[in-house]
Amino acid sequence: MQVILCMATTVNGYIAKENNETPWSDVVWDSYYKIAKQFKAIILGRRTYEIMKGVNEFEKIGSPFTVVVSKEDFAHDSNFAIAKSPREALKMLKEKNFTKALVAGGGMLNSSFMKEKLIDEMYLDVEPLVFGKGIKLFSDNNFDAKLELVETKRLSKNTIQLHYKVLK
Ligand SMILES: NC(=O)c1ccc[n+]([C@@H]2O[C@H](COP(=O)([O-])OP(=O)(O)OC[C@H]3O[C@@H](n4cnc5c(N)ncnc54)[C@H](OP(=O)(O)O)[C@@H]3O)[C@@H](O)[C@H]2O)c1
Repeated sequence: MQVILCMATTVNGYIAKENNETPWSDVVWDSYYKIAKQFKAIILGRRTYEIMKGVNEFEKIGSPFTVVVSKEDFAHDSNFAIAKSPREALKMLKEKNFTKALVAGGGMLNSSFMKEKLIDEMYLDVEPLVFGKGIKLFSDNNFDAKLELVETKRLSKNTIQLHYKVLK
């Protein structure tokens, strides 16, 4: 199973403001939709899932099979599952014969996947922004990681995409 993380971030590593606002440029939203559409399965933290559901984001990314990681149980349809942990999320997807999955935030989910060394590659779209406070790309957790730069892409005059492999 290939597991890819994709995030838009400020220069100082925030993926949203404290109030969950994500003021990304059109080019970054387009980049996210383009990458997400390449995946038939997506994994989300419960908070991110609720935000995406509230703004009908799933159709824009091709309605992938969605696994929400949460300790809670809640109502869902057939294109959806709840997993109690990152490992359980991947096990569910393997059992359904998915070969790749997109990990799409937020900061808490990202850091629990990284802590367990479950991410293979990451795409970071870096906006020319600094937030003083907000949601971190990886919320506080006890892990370190080393990466290898695969590619850099200039998405616009102001925005770059960093593609990394996670060394294990
Ligand atoms: N910039 C971007 O590209 C981007 C992308 C996605 C999201 N975001 C932003 O990120 C923010 C949300 O991030 P967040 O860190 O606050 O929340 P989150 O990671 O989306 O969700 C946190 C919740 O997910 C569940 N969870 C996460 N890791 C778990 C684990 N290891 N085991 C069990 N449950 C786990 C827990 O749910 P329960 O409490 O239900 O147990 C936890 O409270 C929003 O502001 C959103 O807009 C930005």
